[in-house]
Amino acid sequence: MFEKIKSIHKEIEQLSAKNIEDIELLRIKYLSKKGIITELFNDFKNVTQEERKEVGKLLNELKNSLQEKINILKNSFENSQESDKSELDLTLPANFIMGGSRHPLSVTRSKIVEIFSRIGFTVAEGPEIEDDWHNFSALNFPEEHPARDMQDTFFINKNPDIALRTHTSSVQIRVMETEKPPIRKLFPGRVYRNEAISSRSHCFFHQVEGLYIDKDVSFADLKQALLYFAKEMFGADTKIRLRPSYFPFTEPSAEMDISCFLCEGKGCPFCKYTGWVEILGCGMVDPEVLKNCNIDSKIYSGYAFGMGIERITNLKYRVKDIRMFSENDIRFLKQFQSAV
Ligand code: PHE
Repeated sequence: MFEKIKSIHKEIEQLSAKNIEDIELLRIKYLSKKGIITELFNDFKNVTQEERKEVGKLLNELKNSLQEKINILKNSFENSQESDKSELDLTLPANFIMGGSRHPLSVTRSKIVEIFSRIGFTVAEGPEIEDDWHNFSALNFPEEHPARDMQDTFFINKNPDIALRTHTSSVQIRVMETEKPPIRKLFPGRVYRNEAISSRSHCFFHQVEGLYIDKDVSFADLKQALLYFAKEMFGADTKIRLRPSYFPFTEPSAEMDISCFLCEGKGCPFCKYTGWVEILGCGMVDPEVLKNCNIDSKIYSGYAFGMGIERITNLKYRVKDIRMFSENDIRFLKQFQSAV
């Protein structure tokens, strides 16, 4: 028995393992039910009374030293694994972290604001829930006048009329009521109209409105500012065309087209073979509107223009379905990652 214990001791000192499975095999070999050490313990009952104390001690020592050996092997193995892990492989391709991107409508709005800021325009905002005065009456939409039907309205309250604003022209009034000319402001924001949702129209969309009030502001100033904008937004070769139109709050009023940038004005399916695409409404602020805001129309005049941000974005990026802008489809939004 003494001899046996001694030789196993030696054996244990020499034990080695290549991997974690080897260690498990060692444990089974020595300590499982039929393991070498377990069997020695079983033989213990045959040991004579005199030797018992000594043998018992040696057996316990043997078991402990095996356990220790196994722990040492395990530790060294785990440490070496860890140091393997910490060895960085700098040749591995990096994990690509997808950055966020701005919404295409924000990209367009910022671009419009940036272009006009270069000629002195600053931004102002107003509420999306408006009263009748700011959305209609002050803008020269007479009560019961069919012009109000130009924009199907979501009413929140009737008498007094409270509605979701149908255009950003309401902010014109708010600014003219509180500020003195010269006024050179842009009003970007969301507007609402009770329209059937389709690929071409939505019940809410976004506009940027511009307003310039000062002494001696003329239609020529308006035209020049818009020509500058069109060239900056769509390219230096862009031409503009103004067609007579009607808005209750401007007189004269016009709609502006730009030369089709796909066919350069020659005519294509995009511009319906006209060579032109419409982008905004504009005009000289009606003296009646100035009067409503206590601005003396004998001293001051001004121009205003308004455009749909969705429309400008569609033209710039050829988005065919306006609903894409509000669906939050990441596959759509991802495409604008490089747009600034
Ligand atoms: N408010 C008009 C619209 O929503 C656009 C416009 C603004 C026209 C300013 C003329 C002047 O259609």
